[in-house]
Amino acid sequence: MFRRRQNIQIKSLEQIQKMRRAGLVVAAVHQAMRDTAGPGVTTGELDRIAEKVIRDGGGIPSFKGYDIGSGPYPASICASVNEQIVHAIPSDERVLRDGDVISIDVGAIVDGWHGDAAITLEIGEVTPEVHALNQACEASMWAGIRAAATAKRLGGISNAVERSVDSSGKYGIVEGFGGHGIGTEMHQDPHILNYGEPGDGPKLKPGMCLAIEPMITLGSPDTMELDDQWTIVAEDGSIAAHTEHTIALLEDGLWVLTAPDGGVDMLGDLVSAIAKRE
Ligand code: MF3
Ligand code: CO
Repeated sequence: MFRRRQNIQIKSLEQIQKMRRAGLVVAAVHQAMRDTAGPGVTTGELDRIAEKVIRDGGGIPSFKGYDIGSGPYPASICASVNEQIVHAIPSDERVLRDGDVISIDVGAIVDGWHGDAAITLEIGEVTPEVHALNQACEASMWAGIRAAATAKRLGGISNAVERSVDSSGKYGIVEGFGGHGIGTEMHQDPHILNYGEPGDGPKLKPGMCLAIEPMITLGSPDTMELDDQWTIVAEDGSIAAHTEHTIALLEDGLWVLTAPDGGVDMLGDLVSAIAKRE
């Protein structure tokens, strides 16, 4: 069988330590978003706060000016509310309301190295159904991260995400979008589907850095792009959740670069001693 050779950047420990700095800037933005997001706040305000936290932390917002074919992205975060899955542009017109869920996706570059992570926040009180969706999404991200510690191939991560989602309930796993390698660019090989078989894909090796990001909906896995050429929504308009962390694979374990504690709380002994020593 003919297989395209993937060009997966292998990072040295020194380079991963630089990515950690970018990861901590992203984590600081998430904390600022948790502290600020609430009923009455606009996604435009969140974007301005995020950009300030990134720049104050010595970073550059990687999303701003990023072009995937529809022109430069105009903001520092993606702020995707309710049926918006990913890549929604923040706006002063979009006021958060009680019961909304919002995925806030943040990317920062420090010293040439990238961090990329997303959280889904609940605004005020959401329905139990939406809360369960959010929990299922986050759990599946951690299942994928956990699998990265032991899986032989990339498909082991994808499969773990898929099985976790399926064990949580009846959700659509978004098709066509997924995680990615990350390093000196935000998007590198490999592309990481949120479903698949453990035996598929390239072998996992120390020095790989991956952004793992499940996107799930209360309904359809099929998506469409809005007229703004950025916002991705479910075809059936169902509510979505999206969570993401950037991780590094080290010889002796993982390092969740965008988690303040490096992943220790969620992963325990699967975390590298280097990350624990930090
Ligand atoms: N974090 C997103 C991803 O992983 C990237 C946002 S797209 C941008 O795909 F245009 F906003 F940068
Ligand atoms: Co990403």
